[in-house]
Amino acid sequence: MSSLQNKVIWITGASSGIGEALVYECAKHNAKIILSARRESELIRVSKTANLNASDFFILPFDLSDTTNAKELTQQVISKFGRIDILINNGGQSQRAEAIETSTETERTLFEINYFSAVNLSKAVLPFMLKNKSGKIVVISSIAGKFGFYLRSSYSAAKHALHGYFESLRLEVEKKGVSVLLVCPGKVKTNVSLNAISSSGDSHNKMDESHEHAMSAQECAQQIITGILNEKEEILIGGKELLAVKIKRFLPKLFGKIIRKQSPY
Ligand SMILES: NC(=O)c1ccc[n+]([C@@H]2O[C@H](COP(=O)([O-])OP(=O)(O)OC[C@H]3O[C@@H](n4cnc5c(N)ncnc54)[C@H](OP(=O)(O)O)[C@@H]3O)[C@@H](O)[C@H]2O)c1
Repeated sequence: MSSLQNKVIWITGASSGIGEALVYECAKHNAKIILSARRESELIRVSKTANLNASDFFILPFDLSDTTNAKELTQQVISKFGRIDILINNGGQSQRAEAIETSTETERTLFEINYFSAVNLSKAVLPFMLKNKSGKIVVISSIAGKFGFYLRSSYSAAKHALHGYFESLRLEVEKKGVSVLLVCPGKVKTNVSLNAISSSGDSHNKMDESHEHAMSAQECAQQIITGILNEKEEILIGGKELLAVKIKRFLPKLFGKIIRKQSPY
């Protein structure tokens, strides 16, 4: 992809963190942006900060925990811009609760938000992309999609599931002009730990030490845009924590020792 100029880009989780930073980066590239998340007031704030022209953005609030209306949402985007070039499935919620304390209801919610929303939205936009023989689906996974970790059983499982689904989808649609990019951030300084679901079902409400000093959301968003422009299939973004992915692959016994010593926070 040579440029994002005038590309229609739908970003979920656009009200905060990595999604918010992606809005600012896409705005710099003069893209047309659909901003989605639950909090409409925050989406309006982001659109104002990005200084977008009225004709270049569309605010479409909805809850990722129920995307059975994905086709209707997509139709609203098509009515506004006539096409969708890039869908960025970024919105998500983490977990800070032991598996034994996590209710089935919470496990299902984490799967709806982190897995089924990406599947449902992607399936809704695909017919339009396939008709145009062009399009890109970006999925924000995590290094938790590469290995399990303390207090993140269902979150990590949902992120792992994204890889199985979207690697399969890629094989099916790439010859028809649609590409898939899987992004695995390590630690990025956002509200992800504050917003993570706890064993009570409420927000964890604490900033993890490891996120406090992590890469900025802006740097992460810039690397995602570079990955999109360079037609990457999968990218890892973060600091030294990314080494764990390579160690697990090449030295699994050492990985087992190292991962057990890490703080959950
Ligand atoms: N930060 C990291 O270190 C890190 C590492 C690996 C992966 N990730 C992934 O990066 C993505 C973005 O997270 P972030 O770090 O930017 O966290 P964040 O600051 O907490 O942002 C999360 C975004 O998702 C939206 N969201 C959450 N639950 C939603 C729901 N039920 N319905 C609709 N929107 C919802 C939030 O908007 P509303 O609250 O307005 O709905 C917000 O815009 C997530 O998929 C996360 O798993 C982050």
